[in-house]
Amino acid sequence: MPSVPEDSAMKRFNRRGFILGGAAAAAAGCTTVGGKAEKAAAPVQTATPVVAAPAKKPLDPYKGTQGVPLKVGTPCLQSAASTSMGISWSVSGLAKGVVEYADNPQFRNSVTVKSGGFGLAPIDISAIQVRLTGLKPATKYWYRTVTTPFTDYSNIYNAKLGEPIVGKTYSFTTLGEGNHGRFAMICDTHGQWKSYEMRAKFLKENKPELLLWNGDATNTTQDKATAVEIFLDPPVPSAEFAAEVPMSFVSGNHDYRGSWISKINEVLLPRLPSERSSDFWDLKWNFAERLGDMAIIGMDTGEDKPDAHPKWFGLANFEPYRKAQAKWLEQALARPEIASAKFKVLFCHIPLYAAPDHPDYPHDGVKVDPQDYAYWSRECFELWNPVMEKAGVQLVVAGHKHRYRHDLPSSGRRWHQVVGGGHELGMSHGKPDDGRFPTVIEGTVKNGRLVVTAHDVFKNRIAETFTI
Ligand SMILES: [Fe+2]
Ligand SMILES: [Fe+2]
Repeated sequence: MPSVPEDSAMKRFNRRGFILGGAAAAAAGCTTVGGKAEKAAAPVQTATPVVAAPAKKPLDPYKGTQGVPLKVGTPCLQSAASTSMGISWSVSGLAKGVVEYADNPQFRNSVTVKSGGFGLAPIDISAIQVRLTGLKPATKYWYRTVTTPFTDYSNIYNAKLGEPIVGKTYSFTTLGEGNHGRFAMICDTHGQWKSYEMRAKFLKENKPELLLWNGDATNTTQDKATAVEIFLDPPVPSAEFAAEVPMSFVSGNHDYRGSWISKINEVLLPRLPSERSSDFWDLKWNFAERLGDMAIIGMDTGEDKPDAHPKWFGLANFEPYRKAQAKWLEQALARPEIASAKFKVLFCHIPLYAAPDHPDYPHDGVKVDPQDYAYWSRECFELWNPVMEKAGVQLVVAGHKHRYRHDLPSSGRRWHQVVGGGHELGMSHGKPDDGRFPTVIEGTVKNGRLVVTAHDVFKNRIAETFTI
């Protein structure tokens, strides 16, 4: 879908960062123990949020921060699961980072986890990523980041570390059958900060137990800085919600566009490999998790035109990807903890259905046509729907069309489909259009029924609520 110019007022918003004060530096002399329990941690003073002036970067950022103060971003929860949680955050210069966490706010018996996995812990000049594993399902954890700049890394023998920066303490609850919370879905944010802030404010005030970011977070990503801004450091006042609302990402068609985007894993942690069997090693964005009585399933509809379309320059390989996901879906829906969920909710970016009399219907994404693209995906429907019907999926939550709608079940399809709104604020192609508003779509189980509520965060009203 097309995007509009970024809102200049939001672009000027002076983003918040953490810069270490002297007292915090003294208190932050923590040692890291990768994956092992530590003794009770000493009280640690947290860094104070400040409005930082833009820092000058050294000529070669990989040679260290060279006296420029390090700015550390608010952490963002990613690839939420019942026994693991990804945590990523931005840095303004060369740094290493760890996460300290515990199941109590005093950090008794806290565990410190380094970035990366076995072997060398990655350092970076723009994003640090840590994955917590071995967590207990449906359990609340408290955590904080500790980020240490390399002030000089001209070579390994003379490298020097600066003072550690200890982040604010945040908390999250893991997913699982015992987490009887709400999901919330946003989509088609496209880096449009004014409408993004409306959704971020809602999420900060309402704190759902799981956020599905259902695609088209980006437009065309030509460099890592753009991805860091969108996923880790959005310039809006309510961005801090991302530190406490566990998020699972579902790719949209735009999230496959741009000369840098194939390296998105450097900013957005993909699903933990151990969540899937080796047959599906490359399906790094699919997930099936329990959230109380709901099974939450993530599928990737990929790009919006056939692989043979000349626009892809031979780079598209989505058709076999959709087929592989059908096999994964069959296995995922048969897992005992997923099969036993009373409600099965599937998230994907491009809708799986348009009624034959709907204007979207001819645009099914199948034919190679320079003027056309998928308004819904006939290919995904044909591959996935037999599996979904067999398993009894009741709800599909999609995006892509930038206009809220609800399709009731119909012949051959027992599931409802809701399609979320995009970033447009009551306008479409320069004309007033009441059907264009950003949404947050919530779902929760109450009295044995799945209650779905579509919030219009532009006019602060409920667009629709229904139960299944
Ligand atoms: Fe979009
Ligand atoms: Fe889209």
